[in-house]
Amino acid sequence: GSLEIELQRLLKTASPDEVKYWEREFSGFRNLFSRYLRAKAAIDWPKIMPLPENAIKSYDSLTEGDPLTIKDRLSKLVVIKLNGGLGTSMGCKGPKSVIPVRNDLTFLDLTLQQIQFLNWAYGVNVPLVLMNSFNTDDDTAKVLRKYANVQVDVHTFCQSRYPRIDKETLMPVVKDLKDPDLENWNPPGHGNFYESFYNSGLLDKFINEGKEFCFLANIDNLGATVDLNILNFVMTDESGGKVEQPEFVMEVTDKTRADVKGGTLIQYEDRLMLLEIAQVPKDFVDEFKSVSKFRIFNTNNLWAKLSAIKRLVESNAIDLEVIVNPKHLASGLNVIQLETAAGAAIKNFKGACGINVPRSRFLPVKKTSDLLLLMSNLYDIDGGNLTLSALRSFPTTPLVKLGSSFDKVRGDDVLSGGSDIRWMLCYLCAVSLINNPHYSKVTVQSLYF
Ligand code: UTP
Repeated sequence: GSLEIELQRLLKTASPDEVKYWEREFSGFRNLFSRYLRAKAAIDWPKIMPLPENAIKSYDSLTEGDPLTIKDRLSKLVVIKLNGGLGTSMGCKGPKSVIPVRNDLTFLDLTLQQIQFLNWAYGVNVPLVLMNSFNTDDDTAKVLRKYANVQVDVHTFCQSRYPRIDKETLMPVVKDLKDPDLENWNPPGHGNFYESFYNSGLLDKFINEGKEFCFLANIDNLGATVDLNILNFVMTDESGGKVEQPEFVMEVTDKTRADVKGGTLIQYEDRLMLLEIAQVPKDFVDEFKSVSKFRIFNTNNLWAKLSAIKRLVESNAIDLEVIVNPKHLASGLNVIQLETAAGAAIKNFKGACGINVPRSRFLPVKKTSDLLLLMSNLYDIDGGNLTLSALRSFPTTPLVKLGSSFDKVRGDDVLSGGSDIRWMLCYLCAVSLINNPHYSKVTVQSLYF
């Protein structure tokens, strides 16, 4: 009640045009907030059922389909990259996507190269859509200027911006709608994609142009390229109408002991559902982490049918578990920000399933040690695609451990693409080690010079 009064008070400071925009944003926020108040913290563990047969298909069972119609399928595809996140955990101020990965090429550059190469190879025009947040929109626009003459149709839209909430009072911490203090706002996670994509008008535009599916992935995952086998799987009904076609596909991959925190798929209340560690009752966390009981995890490479997104958004039927993310602001205030995850929507789509893909489709960069692997000559790069070097005599990547002096890539001016001397030396060490078949581990604690 008092939150509602506060929201109405905030609206009083807006112009009529802004009121329209904010009413839509607030309805999303209201929805998320009330789900947060209603939500049960954990799931009912005994109600987890064994996964039905075929809930997770093997990637090897898929085929590219008729080569003559690949172009046809590609012409109905839209690629979406989630670009709302910052590179703060690697010490960067700007969007994570503008951190240089190889030869001064950033995640964004390599993503554009991948699409450009795909379009060139198949004579198609697959569009690239970036979902930015208020944190990344301006910097991304600056970087995109250099692509004005590139033959890739790039679209951007900005996801929602919701007020952070005072942990004690559960009231929004923004003073008015134009509150310039970015610390008082947050992008509400990538689960916000469905609603924001719809609100941007792009969903309808693509449907009207005859597009059918979107492929959605984290921009920091350079393994998330357009896969023709999965494209064929989602677009071709090989059962002749006998089997319900999937409206949603989640790419999952085998869990190793390093991935124990990743979300997994379970059968719950007759639906396939994404289970994140935050929803697991305390007593079952070890079981959740076990590699034998929950063998796979979500790569966040997702395929979704555009008409189904439209139907679900319009009927307000996407109900995503709320992730509560506590933060401590510079002002000393303890706040929470409410978020959702895109993969959690799997339970709302018809015929949804997982596909167990090779690990190579999951190359995320969360820490500088992940970045170092991609920077090194362990990977060959061609048309923006990274493949493990044929010189490496076994197909696994070394475990990279970096000391705390390598926690951050140069943070002061990422847009200019520089990296500092410590990084250079660390990189040189790694390059010399990585192709040596005797090394399965690279540890660089610190470098003195
Ligand atoms: P996340 O921050 O959700 O996942 O970003 P992560 O990077 O895997 O973080 P941890 O380590 O699990 O906490 C995943 C992708 O989603 C985008 C980011 O830019 C990244 O590409 N993202 C995240 C958004 O676009 N909007 C958001 O609100 C959050």
